[in-house]
Amino acid sequence: MELTVAITGASGTIYAHRTLQLLAESGVVETINLIMSGSALTVAQVEMGVNLKDAASHDINEWLGLEPESRLIRLWRLDNLAAKPSSGSNKQAGMIIVPCSMGTLGAIASGAGTNLIHRAADVCLKEGRKLVIVPRESPYNSIHLENMLRLSNAGARILPASPGFYHRPTTIGELVDHLCFRIMDQFDVPHSRRSQWTGEEVV
Ligand SMILES: Cc1cc2nc3c(=O)[nH]c(=O)nc-3n(C[C@H](O)[C@H](O)[C@H](O)COP(=O)(O)O)c2cc1C
Repeated sequence: MELTVAITGASGTIYAHRTLQLLAESGVVETINLIMSGSALTVAQVEMGVNLKDAASHDINEWLGLEPESRLIRLWRLDNLAAKPSSGSNKQAGMIIVPCSMGTLGAIASGAGTNLIHRAADVCLKEGRKLVIVPRESPYNSIHLENMLRLSNAGARILPASPGFYHRPTTIGELVDHLCFRIMDQFDVPHSRRSQWTGEEVV
């Protein structure tokens, strides 16, 4: 499987980090086209203390704990509109935007995108491919909500960054995993299913 993952400047870099790790661990993903916005780099620095500015593939591999020589991640520049994910003729399973800022959400919803993240998402919608958007803002204003509805109507899957608690998480890692497992489920990517609800027996 080949897919595109975009990281934007909403809070929650940790979700992107774990999503990439789970895709890498799954054994079913051969190529991940990775795109990061400028603001994503700022938030990554603030939230995870990592400097991904001017990062090369091996720096991303190190950040994810992958082998330095791993070729799983293909890093694309945000302004490279000639990159692979910008063409519908390049067959891919789809795209995940995690976390997705309200700015990126609005640009895609308007159809007037300006960078590779916007274009790759637009391609998914026009080709009928899976586009999983993990928005994060609080509270949402009506423009954010209308943009989400618009994208949902256009075929995107809106998967908000709001993890459940029914698996009784005791660590941030378990909370993050809960959300990232739901992202994996959208592409039928196998994972441990540790937080899957199996039903409560009535006593
Ligand atoms: C530490 C930090 C946290 C932010 N958190 C959010 C957020 O949760 N949601 C959001 O929509 N924007 C958030 N922003 C603002 C976005 O980064 C900003 O709107 C940016 O222009 C988005 O650009 P992008 O969509 O190209 O990444 C945050 C910014 C910083 C510096």
